[in-house]
Amino acid sequence: MSWNLAEPPSGDTLTPYDLRCEHRATPLGVGATVPRLSWRLASDRRGAAQDAYRIRVHARGGPAWDSGWVEGQDVSAGYGADYGGAPLQSLTRYTWQIDVRGGGSATSWFDTGVLHADEWRAAWIGHDPETEPPFEPPTDDREPRSARTAHLPAPRYFRRELDLPPATAVRVVASARGLYELRVNGSRVGDDELTPGWTDYRERVPYQVYDVTDLVGDGGPLCVGAILADGWWSGSLGWDSRRQAQHYGKRPELLVQIVAEHEDGSRTVVGTDGSWRESTGPIRYADLLMGEWYDARLERPGWDRPGFDDSSWAPARIVDTSHDVLVPTVAEPVQVTEDLVPVGVQPASGGRTIVDLGQNIAGRVRLVLRGAPAGTRVTLRHGEALDDGGGLYTDNLRSAEATDHYVAAGEPVETFEPRFTVHGFRYVEVSGHSDFDLVGRALHSATPVAGEFSCSDDMVRRLMSNIRWSQRDNFVSVPTDCPQRDERLGWTADAQVFLPTACYNADVAAFFTNWLADLRCAQTADGAVPDVVPHVMTERHGAPGWGDAATVVPWHLYRVYGDERVLRDSLPSMRRWVDHVERHNPDLIWRNKVGSHYGDWLQAGVTTTREVMATAYFALSAGLTAKAAAVLGLQDVADRYAALRERIGAAFAAAFVSADGRITGDTQTGYLLALAHGLVPEPLVPAAVGHLVADLERRGRRLTTGFAGVGLLGPVLSAYGHQDLAYDLLHDDRYPSWGYSIKRGATTIWERWDGWTEENGFGPVAMNSFNHYALGSVGEWLYGGVAGLGQEEGSVGYRRPLVRPLPGGRLTWASASYDTPLGRLASRWQISGGELTLEVQVPPGAHATVHVPTTDPSSVRESGTPIEPLEVTGSAVVCRIGSGRYTYTSTWER
Ligand code: BGC
Repeated sequence: MSWNLAEPPSGDTLTPYDLRCEHRATPLGVGATVPRLSWRLASDRRGAAQDAYRIRVHARGGPAWDSGWVEGQDVSAGYGADYGGAPLQSLTRYTWQIDVRGGGSATSWFDTGVLHADEWRAAWIGHDPETEPPFEPPTDDREPRSARTAHLPAPRYFRRELDLPPATAVRVVASARGLYELRVNGSRVGDDELTPGWTDYRERVPYQVYDVTDLVGDGGPLCVGAILADGWWSGSLGWDSRRQAQHYGKRPELLVQIVAEHEDGSRTVVGTDGSWRESTGPIRYADLLMGEWYDARLERPGWDRPGFDDSSWAPARIVDTSHDVLVPTVAEPVQVTEDLVPVGVQPASGGRTIVDLGQNIAGRVRLVLRGAPAGTRVTLRHGEALDDGGGLYTDNLRSAEATDHYVAAGEPVETFEPRFTVHGFRYVEVSGHSDFDLVGRALHSATPVAGEFSCSDDMVRRLMSNIRWSQRDNFVSVPTDCPQRDERLGWTADAQVFLPTACYNADVAAFFTNWLADLRCAQTADGAVPDVVPHVMTERHGAPGWGDAATVVPWHLYRVYGDERVLRDSLPSMRRWVDHVERHNPDLIWRNKVGSHYGDWLQAGVTTTREVMATAYFALSAGLTAKAAAVLGLQDVADRYAALRERIGAAFAAAFVSADGRITGDTQTGYLLALAHGLVPEPLVPAAVGHLVADLERRGRRLTTGFAGVGLLGPVLSAYGHQDLAYDLLHDDRYPSWGYSIKRGATTIWERWDGWTEENGFGPVAMNSFNHYALGSVGEWLYGGVAGLGQEEGSVGYRRPLVRPLPGGRLTWASASYDTPLGRLASRWQISGGELTLEVQVPPGAHATVHVPTTDPSSVRESGTPIEPLEVTGSAVVCRIGSGRYTYTSTWER
């Protein structure tokens, strides 16, 4: 298991690969009635492009769709094709083959969900408190309960047996208001974690589909079991105490439907109902924030197999028979993607042991105990750091207990891994028994890796590693702010500032499509967007830079993935957001706070004028809304928002840009926002850039930016010819800088520049996460600036890549590879002995513009041959190329 970029197929043949349905590889439970099928292309041949493709889809042994040969210029991969065959049937496997004319072919499949509301048979079932079997705590063991976990109920175990005739296909559809783990005849079903995931449960509860034909298709006695825990539904969430935190419900509920198809065309359909039996088991409590308590003495072997005596179990209670909120799963499930072997084990006070995984992760441990007598209680505490005395540092977790307990059954070897909790940690403190092994299990939404970046500098490589880990650790079903303390919420600004970086690292199309659905359904009647999505703190909404996720996220997804449906789905929400801001700020300066205002959150030692930041975002959102409407062909709407954008721009300039190009507040973020979003009148741009540079110089080339400004430093400084300054910030290791955290041993991105300082030690415990990705939005510049992988203005889905690397700083080489929707785009530059070598890879169907950096335009060669430049700029020779691999050399004197 790892998180590395896979190699595309090689060879001259034009070969489709990475086949996707609705942006996912081999998804089960697809709910779209017209799913989109897409693929990437690979070929080593220069100028390769797909001029015709054919898709054939089969289901149930017969053809379902043949697209015929689809010809024309615009039929490249990436955008894909919408299924155009016979109406899809529920719970059916569709295999599909893509043929490329004159090239290769590839096959894949997708599996449909429950497509018609009348196909649901299952009811929501839960625990009936009236029938609760009295719980007798083992007398030889004090319960490992704290005040925070005292009221946590035990997860419930549900089971149902039936006799299944032999079947050609068996699928289980499952969901929970809560978290479930599904078991069939003693085996765990699938390897997804924390199912069904977190969405806005008031309106959307996703279900999953599992194909269990291989497990039980032969027929015979069948036992379906499920363990049901609180999770996001009724467990601790955010910083409220649990009782208030039962955001969605008081008790979890389960829904399972088994659908078996038989040779003769008949079906067996069995759903959760009052005939299911339920009880408790070895898990005494399980909570996402607090942890899990497992008492192995209470295991009931065979509970999930046929023939178990469940006469002492209680009948499940039917709590709801509606299916209105059930929605098909849109995003990748959470999975364990890597096991981490400890890099250090050291004794701590009181017979404890501290284990160092060497990496801050989101997840949990798998513990193997040897020779623990029955009743031994082993306690696992998790933390991101060690204190000065070498003990576990947990002050920054606030009320999240992040502690698991295991009570041994007394077997020679016992294994424990909690199921329904997740911790943010690098260190684990183990107490209660010293003969053990453990591994850390990193767990997050299984978004496919899409890119990688590397370079000659250790610290910058570490920075990218920290960025990637913070992305993994925080994309747990929804894009969260942090994985460790009592928060873990989908803060909208964090997500939108980090999105460009996230898209380079992983294919997040499905992940954010899902999240946007939650964003839309949480928008207030007034159009305000909540500060966290899913929306759990009703009083918080409408914050500048936060709410703007409503426009920034759909637009960016469209540009990167080229799927216009995200704009179609989001345009009404984009408009409502912009209209909301306009309604409350009729003079177009966003100064009226409707909800929250966080400013340039966690900026270092300065205060960016809030109205400057807010109005810049207002302009950005109006402009993006205009562009989205134009893409969808709604010219009137586009014109209205484009005009609004112009008027906001004029208001901004009049209110905040002085005659000498100074921007009110005179902070880096103020200049960065204004310059990045075209809010400085053209003649004053050089002066405004000058003030930004002067501010950096005055501070000894130190940054002051917070969440809103930090990602713009590299792009804006290099756009105006100051990449030397951008590189100085990148390489800096004084406070405040990324390097400062790395010098201190950071393995993820810190929430705040002063997470730890020499003067004060650990930062404020009230808010000091060591795993927040917002300040890691510099990753966009590493891929897009340093390695130079981007696309031209107006290009969508990387049809027209722009490869413009920026050699500089301490770097002697840098490289990046990125799987665009069309296929692999890559660049690698290296400087040695006054010569620069630039290798470029362009995917089939793309037309790239390449800027070959040089100090002598006449020296540029491609594979040894002089080139025909399109243009010569001060520092590069520009050329246009089709797909394939190219190697440029040029003179490079610094
Ligand atoms: C979160 C942030 C978030 C901020 C808004 C914090 O508690 O951790 O990342 O954007 O609140 O003020």
